[in-house]
Order: sequence, then structure tokens, then C-alpha cells
Amino acid sequence: MKKLKKISKVISTSLALSLVLAACSDKEEGSSSKNTGGDKDEKVTIVYARGKDDTQGTTAMVEAFEKKYPNIDVKFKEMPADTGKQHDAYVTAFNANSDEIDVIDLDVIWPAEFAQAGFLMPLDRFMEKDGVNPEDYNQGAISASKFKGKQWALPKFIDAGMLFYRTDLVDEGSVPKTWDELLAKAKETKGQGGTQFGYLMQAKQYEGLVCNAVEFIASYGGQIIDENGEVKVDSPEAIKGISKLVEVVNSDVVPQNITTFAEPESHTAFINGQAGLIRNWPYQFALANDEKQSKIVGKVGVAPLPAGDKGSAAALGGWMAGINKNTKHPEEAWKFLSFMAGKEGQKIDAIKGGHAPTILSLYEDQEILDANPYYKDEGFVKALEAAVSRPVAPNYPEISDIIQVQISQAVAKKITPEQAAKNMQKEISEKLVK
Ligand code: GLC
Repeated sequence: MKKLKKISKVISTSLALSLVLAACSDKEEGSSSKNTGGDKDEKVTIVYARGKDDTQGTTAMVEAFEKKYPNIDVKFKEMPADTGKQHDAYVTAFNANSDEIDVIDLDVIWPAEFAQAGFLMPLDRFMEKDGVNPEDYNQGAISASKFKGKQWALPKFIDAGMLFYRTDLVDEGSVPKTWDELLAKAKETKGQGGTQFGYLMQAKQYEGLVCNAVEFIASYGGQIIDENGEVKVDSPEAIKGISKLVEVVNSDVVPQNITTFAEPESHTAFINGQAGLIRNWPYQFALANDEKQSKIVGKVGVAPLPAGDKGSAAALGGWMAGINKNTKHPEEAWKFLSFMAGKEGQKIDAIKGGHAPTILSLYEDQEILDANPYYKDEGFVKALEAAVSRPVAPNYPEISDIIQVQISQAVAKKITPEQAAKNMQKEISEKLVK
């Protein structure tokens, strides 16, 4: 893992406003949704499912799409924000062969599992027909969306864990570079400028905790599973990472109930001005500069996460879009998917939602760079390139559960970090399907 260059910047961006995404009811809004054939002027309604988007990205993308394709209505189905719960809801629906949802967003950790289960429609035929070239995309994201040589989803945006800080509380020159500096800076700024907390992160027992743990572990040079699929978590380096995570979560700079915090709780506290520092994904930047929701507009800087002994490490995340194999509207579903995951949709989502594009040429787009000035920084690009993947396995949810439980037990001090590492080593080795 490379040590990342500092990419702190004072950025003041005011984003255009649009309507906040309203979750539609599950009831049919029009009578036309099941009618594809026949009358060309008839409207087709497709159902698009994803977790709640607290930024304005999704609403703006859907509006632009409906304007461009007046004969296709997109009905939004809001899924649980927690990626694990969202996963389970799709598995239940698709196992029952439901055709209620046409297009879904997939977390970067799901495509292999969903493809193997036969939930998705391969996209290769559509891509060929419309000349969509996978080489235009970030290759890591493309390979995560392929399985057995077929393309099952197209990447919409990339996530990598970053440190966001309040520029009115933390000088550019004193942005913490190590976990110890972070604890000191959080202590120093706690209570200043109306804050109640020093630092926010995601410590609830769910997938986000796995991402936070991967970052701590990797920043000390540890791994959970190595490149060859060997379980390597019972190592002095991983134990150091887990110990530092336990220390931060149990410190008095984070909210006392931090083990109930996922992304929504942490980003809400941050945009309400309750803390000077937060670990989150790139969308945090647009959200913190959203005049409709945020009390800290124009006061947000971005930097790599603090380093352990080994350097700074970001977990790799991100979302893709795929089509339900049972959809009654494959053509319309593809039109919408390829719009969202194509240049037009990704540009809107980057500007309004701060979501980092997967199409490489968009990092040269001036409007995107104006909205997200830190995308220009070498450190950001390197953070994306060096981001650490979570273990790759067709039964990833089982592996994730083991990590979630053991890290939570260590955080609650029911077991030591050494014991957590030993337990994970044993249980993951037993469960891992290669
Ligand atoms: C973000 C990431 C996703 C990750 C999730 C964890 O949505 O993009 O990959 O699993 O956070 O909460």
C-alpha cells in the first residue's frame, strides 16, 4: 500500500438546488406500466430500486432521463439504506422470481453472487448494440461487475473512504495524518464552533464497520484475505489495526452511541455542524455543501484517512446498476441503466451528488471538477487506485457477518483484538468458498 500524499484543500462550492428525492409509494401510479408493446406513444413505467440517496444526485439523474425519454417513467422504490439489509431484500424478491423491480443498484460486493444466483440479465448484448466500451471505465470497477466472462452490471460510481474536516476548525496545515494525530485533533476541536463531538465514523454492526475495519487493518499493513485467497487476519499487523479501531471507538471524541452510527447517522451529525472530522465516502462533500440541508456549506476540506505504521488506506466501495432477469421491460430498463452509468448520468451524479465517476474521461470535465475540486488532486486519484478491496468470495455475506461480529465484540471489549483476529482466522478459513 502506498503512502498517500496530503490532499487537503479549502473548498467552497455551492451546488444548484433541486428537489429532494421523494420515495414513491409501492402502488402503481399509472395504468401503463405493464404495456410495452403495441402503441409506440404509450408510456412505459419502470421501477428503479436503490437505497435512499440523501444527495440530490439520483433525483437529478431521473429527471434528466425522463426529459430525454418522455415515454419512459421511472418509479423509485426506496430500499433500506443499510447495504446488508438491502441485499437481503433483493435476495428475497429475486428468489421469488418477482418482476416488480426492473433496475437495481448493486453494491460492489454483490455482482458475482447475484450473477451466480441467476438474478440478473447479462448486459453484453445491449452494450455491443449501443457501442458501450468497458475500456472507458475504471478497470477495477469493471472487473467487479463481471463474472464468468459476462457483464452483469455497469459501474455508476466509485467509493473510497476519506477524511472530511471542517476548514473553520482545522487548518490546512494541521490536518491529522496519523490515527494518533486524529485523536489529538478531535480532542482539541471537540466543543469548538458549536461541535459536540470530535470525530465521526461508522461503528454499527453492519457492512460499513467492515469497511472501517479494513481501513484500520490495512493502515498497519494487515490484510484479512490476501491476493491468493489465503486468510491472513491473525497477524500482528491486523491486530494493531483492530486495536487502534477499538481505541478510537472507545475514546471520548466520538459520540457515546457511535456503535449505532452508519453512514446516515454520521453524515447527518456532520452536516448539522456537530463534529469537526468525519470518515466517509466522497458523497459527503456534495452533501456538506448542499445549502438545503447543510449548516457547514463552504467549510469542508478533504484529505486521505489517517495513517497507521504502514500508511493511509481507503476501503474500496461503489455501486453499479443491473437489470432484473424477470423484467418485462428489458429495453427500457437498459436505456435507463445505460443513461445512469453512462457519461450523462454520471456527470449529473458527480455534480449534484458528489459521487466519484467510474468513466475515466469525466475526471477532465471542468464542471465536475468545479463541483468537486479535490478530484484534481493526485492524492485523490491515488486513493482510488490504491483502495483496498474487501474479501472476494461468492459467499461474501457470510464472511462479512463473521468480521462484523468479531469486530463488534472487540469494540465492546468482550474479547481482545488478539482473540478477534484468531476467531476471524478460524471462522473465515472454515467458511470461505473460493
Ligand atoms: C458505501 C459503499 C459500499 C459499502 C457501503 C457500506 O455505500 O459504496 O461499497 O458496502 O458503503 O456501508
